[in-house]
Amino acid sequence: MSAFDPVLGQVRAAEKVVFVTGAGISQESGIPTFRGRDGLWRNHDAMKLATIGAFEENPKLVWEWYAERRKNILAALPNPGHAAVAELERYMVVSVLTQNVDGLHQRAGSSEVLELHGSIIRTRCTSCDFIQEIPSGLQGSPPLCRCGCMLRPDVVWFGEELPQDVWKKAVNIASGCDFMIVAGTSLEVSPANMLPVEAKRNGATLVEINPDVTPMSSEMDLTIREKCSVVLPELVSAFS
Ligand code: OAD
Repeated sequence: MSAFDPVLGQVRAAEKVVFVTGAGISQESGIPTFRGRDGLWRNHDAMKLATIGAFEENPKLVWEWYAERRKNILAALPNPGHAAVAELERYMVVSVLTQNVDGLHQRAGSSEVLELHGSIIRTRCTSCDFIQEIPSGLQGSPPLCRCGCMLRPDVVWFGEELPQDVWKKAVNIASGCDFMIVAGTSLEVSPANMLPVEAKRNGATLVEINPDVTPMSSEMDLTIREKCSVVLPELVSAFS
């Protein structure tokens, strides 16, 4: 008996399973969420840390805050939730559309991961198109690019557009899928929260995994009020 039993027929018939994930799936790897009980935005002002204006006003503060998060993320390990998403690829085609910047889906072995909000591991230039894939310095002011301008974390800040190539691909995948699992996201942030709407509009079966209610819970075909690391392995077990 698994929490997915009511929709197992639809999963088996699906050509592709699409995951839309958020901070909740990494919570059990020890990475704080944003809006949950111990969420980052409960104790920190997002407008002072996660906007281009904040970075221009106090680059050292913002750089060090991201550097600290990066350090914790690099020390964290994927949990059974990430592992189950990756393992599902043994049985079906899987795409992961994630708002997370922690790279844990990739480290767990998922092969198609679209990072809607960028990556905290990478840095990029505030001016030219230089991107650095490896983590850089921890403390102090942001390092300078070879063009002379400051480097910044390669994440999407409030008020910024998502990387358009990634976003267009994500919308295509969401609108063309027949089964979507929305896992560990509050669905409070636009435009990522439109992906389940796109899927639903095109007739996909929608499942939500979240201990709490979200604005889209009532639109779901199935809501599972549990942690990702508990129920996602159950889905894999149903196939093995
Ligand atoms: P949130 O912090 O808004 O939401 C996390 C959700 O995960 C909440 O609804 C929790 O109930 C749920 N949750 C917590 N633990 C869970 C678990 N073990 N299993 C399943 N669900 C769990 O995080 P996001 O929705 O990812 O953007 O936030 C979206 C964006 O807002 C982030 O990418 C970030 C943030 O501001 C930027 O920084 C641009």
